Amino acid sequence: MINITKFEEVTSTNDVATDMGKAGAPHFTCIAASKQTAGRGRRGKIWTTLPNKSVACSIILRKNTSHLLPFVASLAVHNVLSRYVECAIKWPNDVLVNGKKISGILAEKIGSDENSFYVLGIGINVKSFDDEALSVIGTSIENEISKNVSVDEVLQSLVSSLSEYLSKNTTEILKEYRQNCDTIGKVITWVSDNEKLVGTAKKVTNEGSLILDVEGVNHEIMSGDIVAQGSKSI
Ligand code: BTN
Repeated sequence: MINITKFEEVTSTNDVATDMGKAGAPHFTCIAASKQTAGRGRRGKIWTTLPNKSVACSIILRKNTSHLLPFVASLAVHNVLSRYVECAIKWPNDVLVNGKKISGILAEKIGSDENSFYVLGIGINVKSFDDEALSVIGTSIENEISKNVSVDEVLQSLVSSLSEYLSKNTTEILKEYRQNCDTIGKVITWVSDNEKLVGTAKKVTNEGSLILDVEGVNHEIMSGDIVAQGSKSI
């Protein structure tokens, strides 16, 4: 079993892991929390962790940090969640069940010199919740399968799955990612800080970017977010 240090309450597990990494914590140090008071999402968004109902963890990575890290992490999450529910990856690294978000991933590079490292933060909704607003866009394992599932069991499975996926090579990662990312072929709306595009997702490149066809013109998308993902276009 991989050792995971679990805190009762933190601001964000990514904050704690960042501090530990700066203090010299080794590769694959894993920490988790029952409650986050200032959980962070991608692009400056707030991430709400329902106390004791979700996995909220961060892992310090000092090696195997390829440009495909978001894919590696989403495959690890997808692999674990598939044991409970049918799910798919939305480019680049959200995992959805029936179009609703069940997990989010925030990878942050800390520092820029030879001591730099990554903090990989992962949230997974596990226990059931009945928050009306949250239920419109999000779901949890228990909300989907009406069975009792342990947060700590999902956490342990996630960390071992991540350790397996980190050892796979680029070819294997790209192949499995393309099999499980259901964004391709769909009409999507993509936004960044200052741009918005609507088009059909064509393919995921070897570099991990998304090719989006907007009225016959291909755009290569490297960051930003898909805010709407429609049905497959013909
Ligand atoms: C997103 O989908 O926008 C990313 C969400 C990432 C949430 C996780 S929960 C554990 C870790 N700590 C944080 O503050 N964020 C990540």
